[in-house]
Amino acid sequence: MSTSNWQPLSWRQFKALQQPEWPDRNLLDEVYENLSRYPPLVFAGEVRDLKAHLADVAQGKAFLLQGGDCAESFSDFTANAIRDKLKVLLQMAVILTHGLGKPVIKVGRIAGQFAKPRSSPVEVQNGVSLPSFRGESVNDPSFTEDARIPDPRRLERAYFQSASTINLLRAFTCGGFADLRQLHNWNQDFVAQSPQGQRYALLADQLSDALRFMKAIGINGHQHGSVLREVEYFTSHEALILEYESALTRRDSLTGDYYDCSAHMLWIGERTRQLEGAHVEFLRGVKNPVGVKIGPTVTADEVLGLCDRLNPQNEPGRLTLITRSGHGRIEQTLPPLLRAMAPEGRAIAWICDPMHGNTYEAPGRIKTRSMEHILSELKSFFTIHQAEGTIPGGVHFELTGDNVTECIGGSHEIREEHLTERYETTCDPRLNVAQSLDVAFLVAELLRGSV
Ligand code: TRP
Ligand code: MN
Repeated sequence: MSTSNWQPLSWRQFKALQQPEWPDRNLLDEVYENLSRYPPLVFAGEVRDLKAHLADVAQGKAFLLQGGDCAESFSDFTANAIRDKLKVLLQMAVILTHGLGKPVIKVGRIAGQFAKPRSSPVEVQNGVSLPSFRGESVNDPSFTEDARIPDPRRLERAYFQSASTINLLRAFTCGGFADLRQLHNWNQDFVAQSPQGQRYALLADQLSDALRFMKAIGINGHQHGSVLREVEYFTSHEALILEYESALTRRDSLTGDYYDCSAHMLWIGERTRQLEGAHVEFLRGVKNPVGVKIGPTVTADEVLGLCDRLNPQNEPGRLTLITRSGHGRIEQTLPPLLRAMAPEGRAIAWICDPMHGNTYEAPGRIKTRSMEHILSELKSFFTIHQAEGTIPGGVHFELTGDNVTECIGGSHEIREEHLTERYETTCDPRLNVAQSLDVAFLVAELLRGSV
């Protein structure tokens, strides 16, 4: 399909699910105008770099590590929170790079992950019904009538918070914080005593020795300065609020192509991936790498339709399919999909999201996920790909750099009764640092030797 009839706002002629009902259209238009004049958050050249890396992922030459908050928040917006989220992703990247022996592409769910699709437009508490919380770029999580009114000014606030976040991330990833000779410093005090923290420290010792050895034989930071010292780190979020995404879309002066400059990579959620829907329409026209979340009920025809719509040229690196079946269903749902797609020769990077299919309610109606289910879905994902002769391209997690108690299990043995101790997410439960290291070690073990 050609993109000649596409415009940044052509999606408005299509059905857009999960959009807030903004009470003040004029204010929304004003915000749209502002956002469309503000500087882009990413540069098209960086986006093309990520696409090239994802082409390697689709061919098994690199591995994608994507992770971060379910939803970023306006209140938890500090340098330390950003730093700690980066730390845990760097630790996981080290574990995976070491275990897999191939490049790990690091992509944060960060600097724009503010909007949430909801299963119900209203939330009922003690008989009171209010509009659902839709992420801080739309409304406020507190359960009052005023708080839940969608306010377009929040889109602007999300933009400025994203700009500030990406600025600090760039400073950290290029300014020496992510230097491989710092890898001991990414292990935070509160995990250092856990089995996973200790296992990480041991690996850090080994790698430090290896780096010292390499320096001694003449491979040093002067010749290969940026390789050791800098890390390529990309941003991503769900492209949900189409006003925000289209306002940040820019025409690249070098190529004349459109890029959604709110992030390097965007994905379409399971709830908004209709072939005739506005989200698919919008994303088909921008050149960014695009992900689609695929739940257990997807059909092979739908997936083929998504390939045709979103990647008509079959360009490797353009399309990532993020499967989120649930540990109990992946064995039934993934193999037929892979078998249907294999003869088609479509360039797809297959990624496992072991979080979203495994959410359940613990007593007290607390949303949680168990490490056992998460690890089980990951294991199945890799075993299935191996059996089918297809390529498992990477993993997608909801995690945080804090010592929270939102998911059950793992090396600290968080049980249901501990959930309320530090349950801080404004949306889905996230892995804490020890649990994140756990999953990284498990993936490294599962894939070791498969290179
Ligand atoms: N630049 C390399 C990379 O991005 C090596 C590297 C530097 C690295 N700092 C890192 C790898 C931190 C993982 C984590 O892979
Ligand atoms: Mn989520």
